[in-house]
Amino acid sequence: MKFTAVANSNIAVIKYWGKRDEKLNLPQNSSISFTMDGQLSTTTTVEFDKKLTRDELVLDDKATGEKELVRVSQFLDLIRNRAQIQSKAKVISKNSFPKGAGLASSASGFAALAAAASRAAGLQLSEKELSILARQGSGSASRSVFGGAVEWQKGNEKNGSDSFAIQLSSEKNWKHLRNIIAIVSSEEKKISSRAGMAETVKTSKLYKKRLEEVGRRIETIRNAIRNNDFESMIDAIMQDSDSMHACMADTIPPIIYMNETSHKIAKAVSELNSSEKIAAYTFDAGPNAHVYTTKPQEVKSMLKEIDGIQEIIECKIGEGIRYSEKHLF
Ligand code: PMV
Repeated sequence: MKFTAVANSNIAVIKYWGKRDEKLNLPQNSSISFTMDGQLSTTTTVEFDKKLTRDELVLDDKATGEKELVRVSQFLDLIRNRAQIQSKAKVISKNSFPKGAGLASSASGFAALAAAASRAAGLQLSEKELSILARQGSGSASRSVFGGAVEWQKGNEKNGSDSFAIQLSSEKNWKHLRNIIAIVSSEEKKISSRAGMAETVKTSKLYKKRLEEVGRRIETIRNAIRNNDFESMIDAIMQDSDSMHACMADTIPPIIYMNETSHKIAKAVSELNSSEKIAAYTFDAGPNAHVYTTKPQEVKSMLKEIDGIQEIIECKIGEGIRYSEKHLF
């Protein structure tokens, strides 16, 4: 049987940067994100087929390279083991991300794959089980199972059984919130987040400090989410992004993802906040800016004055995984 699932990307306000278990993708700290709307989504159709001799993967109409195929095959092995099947799978996946925006995300990709492939293998997983499964493909994918505000609880168990995401607040409570994304570069990142975070854990002295402080920011953001109060999380969001990028820069050799335009945006957001706090920037493992705000017009006018921005995308807070009858093959 063929199954198709759709998952949206998510952008963290408390970042995941560093694992305590490389194989199981167990994080050093809990993280919190908002799930994006369907503008940043992945749709994936999966069918297990006895006639296939190896897994097949087509991503955005292109057969993928060997490295990507191996990563997906290893992920499918987790599902095959669990479902006690041997068949190889055909996987067709499409991103709705603006082409060449450098936004394509493993979060929506592995969340959609986990959902479609587990159903196609005959498994009926709970959302918790799905989050644990998606996590093993890509850590941030654990959060894309749910819509709205989501926390990936780091957990303490060695086998990862308590490291999964939960919804903190439905997307219905965040209709006023936007992520204004400023595309600064469409280039693929030179250092993958997997490689980058491993180096940070190994060599950054500042990283230990980050782990000591992050709990306080998590508390602040959890409270703000509970009270549906964006303003009171603004400082913590920017501090957490700054802290992650400081640890990256403190890594030996330094890892730099933000560029000159990214820094100009961060400065402009801080200036915009000087009269009234309305926006929070956050940057992932790349130079593109994500500016959370409840005043999108003001943020967009501010961004239009900055040189070096290629495109501006206004994203709402979106839903979790859903299934579709519209198969891709
Ligand atoms: O899921 P990964 O392994 O691509 O890690 C993503 C890490 C960041 O995007 C930089 C932060 C986060 O929490 O999403």
